[in-house]
Amino acid sequence: MEKGKLDPRLKLIQQADMKDKVVLLRVDHNVVKKGIIKDPYRIDATIGTLYAIAAAGGKPILMSHVGRPKDKKTGSITCREDQSVLPIVHYLEQKLPVKIHAQEFPIDEGKGIQHIDESIKPSLAALRKGYVDMIYLPNSRWFAGEQSKGPEKDGLSNELASIADLFINDAFGSWGVAASTYDIATRLPSFAGHLLQKEISNLYRVLEPQRPFVGVVAGAKYDTKIGPLKALYEKVDYLILGGLMYNTYLSARYGVSIKGVSEEDRALAMNLVEMDKRGGKILEMPMLVASESVEERAAGGRRVVEIAQLKDGLDLPYVVDIHEKSFEDPKISKVMASARTVFTNAVMGLMPLFFEGSEAIYRLICKNREATKLFAGGDTLQELRNLCPGIYMAGLDDPKTYYFTGGGSVLAAIEQGSPYNMKPFEILLKKENA
Ligand code: 3PG
Repeated sequence: MEKGKLDPRLKLIQQADMKDKVVLLRVDHNVVKKGIIKDPYRIDATIGTLYAIAAAGGKPILMSHVGRPKDKKTGSITCREDQSVLPIVHYLEQKLPVKIHAQEFPIDEGKGIQHIDESIKPSLAALRKGYVDMIYLPNSRWFAGEQSKGPEKDGLSNELASIADLFINDAFGSWGVAASTYDIATRLPSFAGHLLQKEISNLYRVLEPQRPFVGVVAGAKYDTKIGPLKALYEKVDYLILGGLMYNTYLSARYGVSIKGVSEEDRALAMNLVEMDKRGGKILEMPMLVASESVEERAAGGRRVVEIAQLKDGLDLPYVVDIHEKSFEDPKISKVMASARTVFTNAVMGLMPLFFEGSEAIYRLICKNREATKLFAGGDTLQELRNLCPGIYMAGLDDPKTYYFTGGGSVLAAIEQGSPYNMKPFEILLKKENA
């Protein structure tokens, strides 16, 4: 869907006066795993916005979260080097002819960064004078105020607002409410960046799909995905499940016990089984791969289990993948060939050991040249790129293919019915009379 589908109230970066202004830019560059960038797609996708800021004479300060350094139960924040933004800074400096200052602040053990202190002042002066082209702030989740409530959050939001003239949100993947995604936009003139605009435009291809619409989803956790899964179920004509999500469904549907599927999740999945008794949308992949080990492929073996064998009371080891032959099943390939929209947020098997199922389904989806093909999520894109590099590259230039930078955000938008029900994006809408 083109620009026309953007809410006309959305304030756009194109409307911002950035000349000589310090622009706080929230990106989702959350691509660093164990200190290494596995797939820079999310960084590359923001380069248009960086260019636009530079072309308009703006002075950018970038901010992103990396990983989940805050322990939700205890509230403690662990600032580990392998979750620092430095690899992103190095990547950007290599990619663009720019000088980036990676800002640091004192860290209190277990409590993270308390303040944007005075040390930012010389950095800001260097930015304004053009001695550096950008500042990159530390991992946003290292700041005590980022994911907290009350005074800590207000403090950080005020400090962020004090170092910039305007705010641009280009972080589609970061739909959660945080100081750097939401609160800051209540304090500074705020606009949607080019990537965010593109992502929101493309969301309508999922929210108002051409039919038949096939959804392909998988996930390592069942309980956290129930809401979006149900919403997606309502929307699609056919649903394909993979990973632990499929195992959980199968366990509930056939009364089998599968290693790694908890009793709680199995009970929760009964609801989906009931829904599908009426809806009949779930396309069961007929052949699975079972293994005794999730650590070693050779030691665990790769045993084929057919759905037809599943019976009440059966005890299975780990189910680690969908067997690639499943995708040759005439029913599955027929549905896939007839689809006009396919949304994929899925890695089918347990990576990196069991990759065949993912490779087979990506190839099958992309055989359909008529369909709009939407892929979402860091892991999905990473595996598509690794397993099918040619297909991945072709998709970058194909108007019928789109790669969303955030998988969770697309699911949240499906669940909530609109991107503007998510607070960080809703706040970018012009208020009445404003
Ligand atoms: C958010 O809180 O912004 C989103 O849920 C993304 O967070 P995650 O990268 O930790 O999944």
